[in-house]
Amino acid sequence: MTRQQFIGAIDQGTTSTRFVIFDKEGKLLTYHQMEFEQHYRHPGWVEHDPYDILASVDTCIEHAVRKLSLLGYDASSIQCVGITNQRETTIAWDSETGQPLCPAIVWSDNRTSHTVQDLASQEGHKQGVNAIHSICGLPLTTYFSAVKLKWMMDHEPAVKEAHENNRLQFGTIDTWLIYNLTGGVKNGGVLVTDVTNASRTMLMDIHTLEWSQKAIDFFGFKGLRLAKIVPSSSVYGKIHSGSLKNIPISGCLGDQQSALVGQKCFKVGEAKNTYGTGCFMLFNTGDSPVISKNGLLTTVAYQLGNDKPMYALEGSIAVAGSSIQWLRDNLGIIKESKDIGTLAEKVEDTAGVYFVTAFSGLFAPYWRDDARGTICGLTQYTKREHIARATLEAVCYQSRAILEAMNKDAGEPLRSLKVDGGVSNSDACMQIQADILNIEVCRPQMRETTALGAAIAAGLAMGVWNSVEDLNDVNKDGRTVFKSKITDEKRETMYHGWKEAIKRSFGWADV
Ligand code: G3P
Repeated sequence: MTRQQFIGAIDQGTTSTRFVIFDKEGKLLTYHQMEFEQHYRHPGWVEHDPYDILASVDTCIEHAVRKLSLLGYDASSIQCVGITNQRETTIAWDSETGQPLCPAIVWSDNRTSHTVQDLASQEGHKQGVNAIHSICGLPLTTYFSAVKLKWMMDHEPAVKEAHENNRLQFGTIDTWLIYNLTGGVKNGGVLVTDVTNASRTMLMDIHTLEWSQKAIDFFGFKGLRLAKIVPSSSVYGKIHSGSLKNIPISGCLGDQQSALVGQKCFKVGEAKNTYGTGCFMLFNTGDSPVISKNGLLTTVAYQLGNDKPMYALEGSIAVAGSSIQWLRDNLGIIKESKDIGTLAEKVEDTAGVYFVTAFSGLFAPYWRDDARGTICGLTQYTKREHIARATLEAVCYQSRAILEAMNKDAGEPLRSLKVDGGVSNSDACMQIQADILNIEVCRPQMRETTALGAAIAAGLAMGVWNSVEDLNDVNKDGRTVFKSKITDEKRETMYHGWKEAIKRSFGWADV
């Protein structure tokens, strides 16, 4: 077996987990991916079993390491491991037993709309909502972890009891994984969360990067146990068992921030859009947080070692790839997700059909919990090709609404957007995106940029690279650039229709 310097990345996403192995040039050597079960007990609810998540990580590691051995390298050539994960998904466990107290509530779950209303309308809380926004950079919505944890405390007796007995450990997916991978309750697992994940909880002060007592009090958390907040690139601990035993975990980022790093958006004004289960546009705003006036989120982009933290403005779209899965699984319009582009390309336009894919309300820049999925403009002429195209257009239009908000907040118009994620594999969709945005849309050849970001963070902490300047050769080859092919008039007419469709999606939750 040959010894080499490789970096492993665990990419724990909303519907699947991957373990990806990269070399120093960012070349993907091998990987293993698996889907895991989604639980939908009620409309609007989305849950995961925390043990399924752990099991999927173990399986992916073992399979990828086996594939690596077929290439002639053994596990010891993996120098370090980075973690990137679905954000906001909330796990509550008993600090003494390490056992989860209820299913994890997934980021897209919107059962908490009443929790949000209650928190916003409680006496004395009106000003609190604004104060919390300026502390954590996030509006009070169903999306963020603290709201989900509050729901658990109010509705899950085991969580309530653990809270009363000071045994309630809260963690996002990064904390759950690092804790268990480094030994868990029996073997001194490390309890940490990286700044980017902590910035999605509503409990961290984005200016000081510490837990905010004001925010904790706002939600009424008294004896809550919180993980230590750490930089995105730093050695947290060693893997306790399995093929990667004793290999350090030295990088961690929420998946969208990780894609920003993987796309090497290290300069102020650089932005990326990742089309995964949802779609998330992040724009690097440098070393001070910009509080949005236009419906965007302020988030920590990354903190590499002891360097200053970098911040981003984020536009979040709850539904992207999941609407394609819905066409496949619920309507049977396509057999496989990848077929959507081919079907959409069979027609030149949607023949006036718009599909607002607001399955669980609308996120940025609208923030409407009461919106629901709405298909407008159907006629006898409408075919499944039109619906397929309207589904792809939906994420592109919402990206345009986000881009407009970003341009207003940043003061400088964005000229180029880096893209990645499953849906970006569709040339048809990326062409539609360029047409609707009227800026360059740049797609790298190697699109596992989310995993690459975690590998970069891990490698920087271990000296695989000394600084971001050393990353020039990483994943630099083979970009595809999409440019608009339609007239301004056509673009604006299409977008006008979207704005009308959006209005019609509001208010359905209460009908
Ligand atoms: O904020 C949710 C996000 O982290 C989920 O990402 O890739 O699963 O759509 P993804």
